[in-house]
Amino acid sequence: MSTKPVSIAVLVSGNGTNFQAIVDAIESGRIRNAHITCLVSNRADAFAIERAKKHNIKSFVLDHKNYKNRMEYDTAMVEILQRHNVQLVVLAGFMRILSSTMIDAFPNSIMNIHPALLPSFPGLDAQQQAFDYGVRYTGCTVHFVDSGTDTGPIILQAVVPALESDTVNTLTKRIHGEEHRIYVEAIGLFCDGRLRVEGRKVTIAQQTGCATNLL
Ligand code: GAR
Repeated sequence: MSTKPVSIAVLVSGNGTNFQAIVDAIESGRIRNAHITCLVSNRADAFAIERAKKHNIKSFVLDHKNYKNRMEYDTAMVEILQRHNVQLVVLAGFMRILSSTMIDAFPNSIMNIHPALLPSFPGLDAQQQAFDYGVRYTGCTVHFVDSGTDTGPIILQAVVPALESDTVNTLTKRIHGEEHRIYVEAIGLFCDGRLRVEGRKVTIAQQTGCATNLL
């Protein structure tokens, strides 16, 4: 296990409850070996920025409207992240698709949380998609980001039953609770150097040094 804390950047667009869960887990020692170096938001009104202030975490607003295209935007993002020696990029409700400029700069080092059991219901409004489809079970997925939309290697998933009494709001709330739990767990595994990626498969090394498949 590395002793120098892993430098993490969290990218957000909104409320930031996942960001808050990660901050709390680092502060309480549930994630060891990690330091949030900066928060980057594409929206100036994201509540996550207020959360960062409370915890003395440096934040940047990188408004996509000020850039000609995705590649220019991502070049500016990479510049900020590299200047802060970021080793892990955590997307926490960051509602933008990343270009190859970002993905190539951080191979297997960008994580995303998606509010459905991938590969079902990728893209926007995943909870609504699952609710409308009438599934009995949905959930959330933490995965590494590749060039597709929500297609990268899966790290952890949690199952949430869809109850007949659910509205999309009650279902979303229970999924959110599970997101906070598995995102913290996945980031902890990364920071402890326990994740290996081979093709589509992510394996978790046991603390003794053995690797087991994630099923
Ligand atoms: C979360 O539900 C996350 O899964 C979702 O945005 C929400 C952000 O909530 N992300 C996506 O849908 C990405 N495709 P938060 O700001 O409270 O963490």
